[in-house]
Amino acid sequence: MASDFVSVIKPTADEPEGQQIGPIPVLPVRDTVLFPHAVLPLTVGRESSIQLIQSLGEEKTILVVAQRDARQDSPQAADLHNIGTRATVHKVVKMPNQSLFVFTEGNERVRLGEFAQITPFMTAESEVIAEVEPAKSPELEALQRNVVSQFQQIVTSSPTLSDDLQTIAINIEEPGRLADFIASSLPFLTTADKQELLETPDVAARLERINKHLAKELEVQQLRNKIQSEVQDSVQSSQRDFYLREQLKAIQKELGDLDDTQKDIAELKEKIEAAGMPEETKKDALKELARLSRMNSMAADYSLTRNYIEWLAVLPWAKSSAGEVDILKAKEILDADHYGLKKVKDRILDYLSVRRLKPDMKGPILCFVGPPGVGKTSLGRSVAKALGRKFSRISLGGMHDEAELRGHRRTYIGALPGQIIQNLKRVETNDPVFMLDEIDKLGRDFRGDPASALLEVLDPEQNNTFRDNYLDQPFDLSKVLFICTANQLDPVPAPLLDRMEIIELTGYTEEEKVAIAETYLIPRQEKENGIDPALVDFPKDAVAQIARHYTREAGVRKLEQQVGTIFRKIARRIAEGKNEKVTITNELVREFLGGIKVRVDTEIAERTKRAGVAVGLAWTPVGGDVLFVEASRMKGKGSFAITGQIGDVMKESMQAALTWVRSNAKKLGLDEDLLKDSDLHIHVPAGAIPKDGPSAGVTMATAIVSLLTDTPVRPLLAMTGEITLSGNVLPVGGIKEKFLAAKRAGVRDVILPVDCRQQVEEDLQADQIEGVTIHYASRIEEVLSIALPRTTGEVVHDEVVREELISAAV
Ligand SMILES: Nc1ncnc2c1ncn2[C@@H]1O[C@H](COP(=O)(O)OP(=O)(O)OP(=O)(O)O)[C@@H](O)[C@H]1O
Ligand SMILES: [Mg+2]
Repeated sequence: MASDFVSVIKPTADEPEGQQIGPIPVLPVRDTVLFPHAVLPLTVGRESSIQLIQSLGEEKTILVVAQRDARQDSPQAADLHNIGTRATVHKVVKMPNQSLFVFTEGNERVRLGEFAQITPFMTAESEVIAEVEPAKSPELEALQRNVVSQFQQIVTSSPTLSDDLQTIAINIEEPGRLADFIASSLPFLTTADKQELLETPDVAARLERINKHLAKELEVQQLRNKIQSEVQDSVQSSQRDFYLREQLKAIQKELGDLDDTQKDIAELKEKIEAAGMPEETKKDALKELARLSRMNSMAADYSLTRNYIEWLAVLPWAKSSAGEVDILKAKEILDADHYGLKKVKDRILDYLSVRRLKPDMKGPILCFVGPPGVGKTSLGRSVAKALGRKFSRISLGGMHDEAELRGHRRTYIGALPGQIIQNLKRVETNDPVFMLDEIDKLGRDFRGDPASALLEVLDPEQNNTFRDNYLDQPFDLSKVLFICTANQLDPVPAPLLDRMEIIELTGYTEEEKVAIAETYLIPRQEKENGIDPALVDFPKDAVAQIARHYTREAGVRKLEQQVGTIFRKIARRIAEGKNEKVTITNELVREFLGGIKVRVDTEIAERTKRAGVAVGLAWTPVGGDVLFVEASRMKGKGSFAITGQIGDVMKESMQAALTWVRSNAKKLGLDEDLLKDSDLHIHVPAGAIPKDGPSAGVTMATAIVSLLTDTPVRPLLAMTGEITLSGNVLPVGGIKEKFLAAKRAGVRDVILPVDCRQQVEEDLQADQIEGVTIHYASRIEEVLSIALPRTTGEVVHDEVVREELISAAV
């Protein structure tokens, strides 16, 4: 109310001092004080007061007096202050609610005297209070100026006080009126403060008091500013930004357009809804999303949280690609992609049939084992194709850290899900074929054992709730078809092996390689090098030449590379303008690939020229291989040594071989003291791969006898078998790989333990054996009688064969 104040400057009222005024109406007011020279609009609502105003005739003078207690509704004389203001009523306006709006102007301070009437309204006598004017002095002047300037400051910094007030204040010269004007203008003065000022007739004292009020108010104002700015500071960066952003969002919402982040969040939400994740996971994802939408998009962990949600949203929780398995079609596809491998394909189809009949089968995991390049990986790809599923390959070779498979916790910087989840994201379906390649080369160290993570992945009992460290949500892997591959099974942890159905793939013979090259490798390489098949004739002979003399492998990878090299050379010829049809001859092969790289048959012929050298057969993870055992004798004291990259078992079987030769020296037609003055040295030249095992026993015995009888072993003959001290030949493993290696090396006779006959019949087909004679032996004597020439005719024949082979190579 006070702020509505309108002050009017009038010349000082010149009522005589101490003048007695007869009874006039007394208007009690609550919560306000009327000062002389001020105009105050009063709302009059009380019945008695309305009667009072209505009773006024020409004489419009009343006494305006503040109540001591504003809450008093029908105040009596005692409820009023003693000092009030004589006022003139200028205008009365009737309000719609029956109350009156009364404009009053203060004239001068009065002290109330006798009350003449109480009802219907009060009237009282009064006495004018004289102002105590101060003498003019510099102090007064200073005080007055100070009051004005403080008032100005307050008005300036107040949002509610009109600037006009400053101008008026500057123009008031009398200190008393100045004090009254300011007192009635300040909104912060209480009624009590104002009443006190009204009751101070001493002008100097009144000015002093006003000055104090102003100073105090200024101080309060400054303090408030300080607090305000401190609060502002602390709130500023976060809260203010937040408010602004919220406002911006609201505005954008009003305008109907979303900003990028909001669009992004809306999209993520859609993705989460559509992903088909389990209820619990979805709840968590939406919770994270809500958190994200409250975050500042510039904040560091915004993108981390967003990434996480994105991962959850894009995983194929419920998306499958495959329908029913059509076994006939699957067979067609497997046959179309791979030559031979009949047994392998059959087992795969059996496996798929069971899965078809029992789709929720918690069956074992397939594991393809075999030498490099025999088609394990590509067979896996084919299985996926046959099933109409996506294919993905995870290389386990050299994987040391469990986290590579299972991911890092989200708290790590740069954390990501592991390979399993990453690949699931890539294939976008939850039932792909996952090929876990090179499971035999899995590492382990302080960072944890990936094999144990793999166990969980492969175990049908647990893998429906596979938990990646990053996602920290269970994912159902039970629909994934896992296929592992390995070159050998020895290093594979037993618990893993337990869960796998092993399918062995062996190396190929030369004929098989040629067939594979003709149907698969050559057409593929032609296509890859952009060569028109009509322009090239690639006869079987040339392929066989490459397989035999330019590769030494169980699989066909190197063969494919060499074929590729040939096609690149042809491409170059065509590019150079030679457009006629090319037939690949042996000469062209030599021209394109250089001189012959591998000549195992001549190597055998060459090395077995000397007595004391026998050819053995070894099994290695990269396929079978031939191995040479060389025995030498020198003057000495009957000691022996064995060298080469060989293991303990092989050393022991060398001992056994030597002991048998010694104890049978006489029978063999040897001087029993033959070894007394000499040392024996057996060397097994290291191939790329260390060799061990008992299967070289017969070979070592043969080498020693060959040495001591000075008879070279028959050419192009190889053998394998364990030997006992009594001269029995025991069966050994890996016959198929060993036999194929022998055949690839050009060997024509192979001696095997008699008990391996069954292995041969089961694992090798007639066309694979063709061209090689297999001799079965149960005793070392039988081995020797086959391995060493018995007649001079045989010796001469062997010489001739050797010479032919060696000269052919030159
Ligand atoms: N029986 C086959 N019929 C047709 N192509 C074959 C056959 N076997 C192998 N291949 C081809 O040989 C190449 C090498 O095969 P792949 O990569 O599958 O070998 P791998 O057994 O996985 O070897 P590694 O153990 O080194 O991984 C592929 O291009 C594959 O298509
Ligand atoms: Mg592979």
